Amino acid sequence: IISQSAKELGQETYVVGGFVRDFLLKRDSKKDIDFVTVGSGIELAEKVHSKITDASKLSVFKRFGTANFKWEGIDLEFVGARRESYAEDSRKPFVEDGSLEDDQKRRDFTINALAISLNEENYGELIDPFDGIGDLERKIIRTPLEPDVTYSDDPLRMMRAIRFAAQLGFEIEENSFQSIQKNASRIDIVSKERVMDEFQKIMMTEKPSTGLKLLDDAGLMQFILPELVALRGVEEVEGQTHKDNFYHTLEVVDNIAPNTENIWLRWAALLHDIGKAPTKRYDKKIGWTFHSHEFVGSKMVFKLFKRLKLPLGHPLKFVQKIVLLSSRPIALVDENVTDAALRRLLFDAGEDFDDLITLCKADITTKNERKQRRFKQNFSL
Ligand code: CTP
Repeated sequence: IISQSAKELGQETYVVGGFVRDFLLKRDSKKDIDFVTVGSGIELAEKVHSKITDASKLSVFKRFGTANFKWEGIDLEFVGARRESYAEDSRKPFVEDGSLEDDQKRRDFTINALAISLNEENYGELIDPFDGIGDLERKIIRTPLEPDVTYSDDPLRMMRAIRFAAQLGFEIEENSFQSIQKNASRIDIVSKERVMDEFQKIMMTEKPSTGLKLLDDAGLMQFILPELVALRGVEEVEGQTHKDNFYHTLEVVDNIAPNTENIWLRWAALLHDIGKAPTKRYDKKIGWTFHSHEFVGSKMVFKLFKRLKLPLGHPLKFVQKIVLLSSRPIALVDENVTDAALRRLLFDAGEDFDDLITLCKADITTKNERKQRRFKQNFSL
């Protein structure tokens, strides 16, 4: 139908972007398909829409020159091929009509710039001016233009590069990564919601430490979650050291990931030691201590959720509570724990008890076998 409609309008039309990438990678089929047409995207959408009886209402965005509708649960998105240029301080592009190649050039990565023709003369042909296919095979994230241009045009793409690397198990090309390091501070011009959308996708990957570590190495983490960066490093006083709480945190998030798809429990793992940087001190008698870091940490969670525009309802309370309680079962591995203490913990955690235990299991590093045994005994009640 789309091909026929495009022909009637005399407009070259292609499938482009994420759908083509995921199709070639044999990933789960996407729920949205982008069509680019050399001419009016809105007119093409209107024509296609008029030929389909069971489609949802057509939404038209005149200002952006786009239109979309849903059909059988799939979002079909139409846009006219365009050339874009950007002002220094904004993600809003200045847009002009362009050719297919102009449109492919304005895209973020070579693997997202692949197009499949819907035109009669070369139907099904793959149009790949930047060797996106090669990059899919080599598992590389690379920009079609100079990385500095692509990232500074739209700094959200720095997050997207890391998100795709983490989701797909790809590497970010060296030049690209250096450019992200150079442009990291420009992430500030992107709205918190969009940055956090990408961050959440990283949190939901199989091994979140891959993306989190990349965010740190790229210098982006310090603009998003400086509290986490503050956990990095080991200090030594009088020959005594403490563990690197940044790497420990990444380990705990990885440990919990296979056991929960609950994003907020993963966040609790990410933030469970967040109060350790401001409470750290060295005491001559007891050595390194992080006394009351749980209380400080749960207050920090509140500020952080507000700043990052994360939902302040149930997820905030859940994360705060788990952060606050998470160090207590660790105390319960102590030989001297009483039944009363255990009952008290059950009571405090309430219906979130199982989630708390999931976190605590992830938090006990495999190195200390005695502690682990003790913990298992206590919690197979
Ligand atoms: N795109 C871009 N720059 C962005 C966002 C998107 O160039 N900051 C382009 C890419 O070509 C991308 C397409 O727009 O493939 C569609 O974007 P989107 O739906 O956000 O992402 P997908 O690549 O489809 O991937 P996902 O659905 O996993 O987010």
